[in-house]
Amino acid sequence: MQTITMLDPLRQKVEALRAEGLIALVPTMGALHEGHLTLVREAKSAAAHVCVSIFVNPRQFGANEDLDAYPRKLADDCALLQAEGVSLVWAPQPQVMYPQGYATNISVSGVSEGLCGGSRPGHFDGVATVVCKLFNQVRPDLAFFGEKDWQQLAVIRRMARDLDLTMPAHSNIIGVPTVREADGLAMSSRNAYLSDSERKNAATLPQAMRTAIAAIEAGDSTSSALAQLKQSLIAGGFASVDYAELRDAQSLEKIDRQQENPARLLVAAHIGKARLIDNMPVSGKAHE
Ligand code: PAF
Repeated sequence: MQTITMLDPLRQKVEALRAEGLIALVPTMGALHEGHLTLVREAKSAAAHVCVSIFVNPRQFGANEDLDAYPRKLADDCALLQAEGVSLVWAPQPQVMYPQGYATNISVSGVSEGLCGGSRPGHFDGVATVVCKLFNQVRPDLAFFGEKDWQQLAVIRRMARDLDLTMPAHSNIIGVPTVREADGLAMSSRNAYLSDSERKNAATLPQAMRTAIAAIEAGDSTSSALAQLKQSLIAGGFASVDYAELRDAQSLEKIDRQQENPARLLVAAHIGKARLIDNMPVSGKAHE
């Protein structure tokens, strides 16, 4: 496994690997956990070579967010990736990704509006911009992302479709189901911010979501199930709820009437220093 930090050697290495078969990219911000390693394993089963990018992207953090505090563990991450049989780690510094004079921004409307796009203005511009650059730098045949960031996945697919990206084509952008701890909490690098008691309370999030989904699927009103969900989070130790919404799973449009299409419950809430997000599928008709 090689760790590369500059663009020219990256391009040379990628072209050499390409001669041996498909290349899969797993974009990450490091501080790797079992969720990331699951993406790597899926990527490995689909391609001859896996490239993992590790880059804490400043453009997707707002002014008052956790850019400085975000965990950085490059040596530990590389040891984990080596054990998984990854071929290449792409770990540029910010000045390599955004050199002096950098001035281009990619903004995807529609799917990036509301939800995390509402609470974190500019976040998805930063994500779309860096992922487009990563695709151009590595030119992977396939790319793997966690479904935990459901809205992010929708934004990236839309961007790839709209910009006619062929490497990877939008159909080769693969979402991998969320990996959860034993108590149901979605794995996230930000779980490291939680104290022991906050970590215990954080399990309220998936539990309350499952309760809300059961109520909605049983035909209860969506708005009262969501109100109950928010109350349970606050009672369970969360400080505030950014959003708890039922959306069309694909278009991410708000569901304000009964529908047959698959739906998704998406939630973001604050506990301690962490802002946690999660999403789960909802089947059947949803009632307003
Ligand atoms: O999901 C993440 O870790 C990041 O948003 C991504 C896709 C690596 C872009 O920085």
